[in-house]
Amino acid sequence: NTQGSENSKGTLSVVTESGFMPFSYLDKGELAGFDIELIDAVMNEAGYNYDIKNVGWESMLAAVQNGEADLAIAGITINDDRKQTYDFSSPYFESTHKIVFREGENITSGEDIKDLKVGVQSGTTGAEAAEKILGTNHPNISKYEANTLAFMSLQSGDVDAVVTDNVVASEYVKNNPDAKVEMIEDTDTFESEFYGIMFPKDSEVTEDINSALKTLIDNGTYAELYEKWFGE
Ligand code: ARG
Repeated sequence: NTQGSENSKGTLSVVTESGFMPFSYLDKGELAGFDIELIDAVMNEAGYNYDIKNVGWESMLAAVQNGEADLAIAGITINDDRKQTYDFSSPYFESTHKIVFREGENITSGEDIKDLKVGVQSGTTGAEAAEKILGTNHPNISKYEANTLAFMSLQSGDVDAVVTDNVVASEYVKNNPDAKVEMIEDTDTFESEFYGIMFPKDSEVTEDINSALKTLIDNGTYAELYEKWFGE
């Protein structure tokens, strides 16, 4: 599906990964979420048409790296590691990690998952955060292709806890009142990080997209979206 304005500068190819509610997810088969609406507003502001494709996390990163896609948005954290391979927009959302765990586990800090079985999405900052506590490639860490699969493993009892982005954790707990899970945030253990729109290195559209994002932040459109998705 191509969407956008009529006086378009051209059509950009956008990729996302929809296992990350409320940023990117499927609602009755349609992409929905804060990131999906933000990128739509940004593209309209910048004057591009775009195609958006929902692909797996690893495929999404690969598509941007090899230039098959012009950009990706999916709650992607800006970090030094990724900056060697990709370019990013200015930050558009601040995040940290939370631990979601089965009711009854005695978890009051990040360190308390040290001796537990922990599920994470592979290739994410949540995986890194868990490895910082348990150790790199620790056998008690199960890495899943999708964050949703980590949550399913928590449900089935394959893992005791999941480390993931705070807003995604809260959304999951809120939407699954029967799941018998709780969560904690530990800002001493888990650092704050920022999401950005991701581009291939040296992309020619980065500046354009970034200034559209800035316009939306300055003119209140971003705040409206933020209120819609995260306001009380
Ligand atoms: N913010 C984390 C990271 O960039 C997790 C992102 C996961 N996003 C997703 N669509 N599954 O590593």
